[in-house]
Amino acid sequence: MTNSQPFYITTPIYYVNDVPHIGHAYTTIAADVLARYWRLRGRDVFFLTGLDEHGQKVQQAAAKAGVAPQTYCDNLAPKFTELWKRLDIRPDAFIRTTDREHGRIVQRYLQELFDTGLIYKDSYTGWYCTFDERFWTEKDVTDGLCPDCKRPVEQLSESNYFFRMGQYQDRLIDHIKIHPRFIRPESRRNEVLGFLQSQKLGDLSISRPKARLSWGIELPFDKDYVTYVWFDALVNYISALEYKPPSPSVDTFWPANVHLVGKDILTTHAVYWSTMLMALHRPLPETIFAHGWWTVNGEKMSKSRGNVVDPNKMLEVYGVDAFRYFLLREVPFGQDGDFSEQAMARRINSDLANGIGNLLSRTLTMIERSCSGTIPDMPRDYLDGEDARRKFPLLVQAKESLKTLGNHLDEMFDGFEFSSFLLLVTSRVSDVDTFIDKYEPWKLAKDPSRREELDTVLYSAAECLRILSLYILPVMPATAHGIAEQLGLHINWDSPFLKESVKWGELKSGTKIRKGNALFPRVLVTESGEYDLASGKAELSKLQGAKPVSDSPIPSRPTVAPSAAASPASAPPTGPPAAPLQITIDEFMKVQLKTARVLSAERVPKSEKLLKLQVSLGSEQRQIVAGIGKKYEPESLIGKTIVIVANLKPAKLMGLESQGMVLAAGDSDVRGLVTFVEEVDPGTKVK
Ligand code: MSP
Repeated sequence: MTNSQPFYITTPIYYVNDVPHIGHAYTTIAADVLARYWRLRGRDVFFLTGLDEHGQKVQQAAAKAGVAPQTYCDNLAPKFTELWKRLDIRPDAFIRTTDREHGRIVQRYLQELFDTGLIYKDSYTGWYCTFDERFWTEKDVTDGLCPDCKRPVEQLSESNYFFRMGQYQDRLIDHIKIHPRFIRPESRRNEVLGFLQSQKLGDLSISRPKARLSWGIELPFDKDYVTYVWFDALVNYISALEYKPPSPSVDTFWPANVHLVGKDILTTHAVYWSTMLMALHRPLPETIFAHGWWTVNGEKMSKSRGNVVDPNKMLEVYGVDAFRYFLLREVPFGQDGDFSEQAMARRINSDLANGIGNLLSRTLTMIERSCSGTIPDMPRDYLDGEDARRKFPLLVQAKESLKTLGNHLDEMFDGFEFSSFLLLVTSRVSDVDTFIDKYEPWKLAKDPSRREELDTVLYSAAECLRILSLYILPVMPATAHGIAEQLGLHINWDSPFLKESVKWGELKSGTKIRKGNALFPRVLVTESGEYDLASGKAELSKLQGAKPVSDSPIPSRPTVAPSAAASPASAPPTGPPAAPLQITIDEFMKVQLKTARVLSAERVPKSEKLLKLQVSLGSEQRQIVAGIGKKYEPESLIGKTIVIVANLKPAKLMGLESQGMVLAAGDSDVRGLVTFVEEVDPGTKVK
């Protein structure tokens, strides 16, 4: 599966009228993921992003700030470049439309089109929206408002230069029909086709009189005008290849493979840019992909609503990789999505902290305990044989599913299927958890005659983690590095290691592991409804002093009979057995039973019976000390969903606080834990 084709991907260039928000981060992260992926596959990649610095919006923002437009742009540009660094976004070039070279190239193109009669001067009367910097026709405007931003429009009459866009209408329709990958997703392609087939395409105003807007690129054939913002901005996709190192690279990288854009600017790309390219005799990009928009807690994100999500804050509180993961996992690329910290907390806990993070930590703990901290031995082709199929069917299946995922990576990245890809990654993680639970390495470790089986299970778990780390690198670079480092590996991350299929068995036995911190701290909900990291590392001042949420009033004694309890030992019964105490439904309803997922478990020193569990209730984490240690090895419980009494008054057992009680069958001897046939989310009420 080698691929030597160059790959050129772009993001929109962002207006510098304000600091970057989650929408900007979204497209740029997605572009970074694709750039990283194809680079790892051995393609020559060029990833371009940058800033759209001309136009009315920037001029107005600068005037408001009382500085010259260039100073304003220079002050804001680092907000973008620094954010990209913090988000682990690594573009090959960063273009600013105020770059002198860009201006000259725009002028060259304008002159070319003017000389061939494709740009002409005309006078025009129409409804002008200052905010969107564009004219609307009579039929577009209702009640004097811009159809796009709903702000008042004004009637303006002025002479301007026009690009003969309309004459390319049929050619564009044909192009879209012949090239199914040109506009994606399919629904957007149909929208553009529908629009082009139902109305006559007009010509495009590409200039503005300097008297009204001076902050632009001067027309080379008329000093009284500057170019219209879209002409200037769209040209960036080619101009960058002419002067950004390694320049000139137009021949290598044009036409672009992917222009990633938001759905609101699809027309400008699919229609304006495509027809401009036709006029300039340049091939059209292979794909323009329009992604959806994020709302925030169900509302449109806007400054006036005060709900603009600052990516800087998100990465400070939740971490870069968790933020990158959430944006790409939560919503299929192309669809709209809703952003909330609650949803992000849920995803981080379920998929990352309890998923791959927990798998790494439990695997390495077992390797530390049972294999003196080195990767055990296992014959490379053992899993291909009959013996393995018979003894370890789940393990063989996990290995094969991982290979299938590897075989489908190209297809998924080519299809922008980030969300499905990440879902498959979490499934492969749970395959490993499942075979660990099934083959119980903690039991194998107790029997020296089963050493080979133990090594097989632990080697395989570590090898699956190594392979997964390579697959997730484009989305979560720091996590991939973290996994490899804890596995004791030295990987050359710059080499195109996905060029060939990743081979099973490359993990060398005898490698000394380096178990480190949890990859993903769990997120806790605080009393004020904020989210905080379990590690307490949150830096935002408003989060300081937050405590894990505790549930409402707690009856002093449980009203269900606990059999395996973290409750203090009660006195043995004396006298004749009493009739069972009857309670009313209201009394019963006071007991809050909830599902909880066991995140970690360890023995309480000097106690045969007590285990200290950390459990997740979805949005919070608890410590429970439970008397189930005679029945269960701690490792066997990790990942299990159990039932706890969630509103039991905290008690201390051997000096350790227990914030709840585990339900189990049995009397003084525990016979079995209450658990579920189906997968149930942690924190679900049990009645
Ligand atoms: N400067 C133009 C693009 C010129 S490209 C030659 C522009 N800039 S922008 O800063 O206003 O918007 C940039 C991108 O951010 C667009 O793709 C837009 O869709 C995206 N988003 C703005 N708000 C968004 C959300 N709430 N959600 C997702 N993306 C959003 O347009």
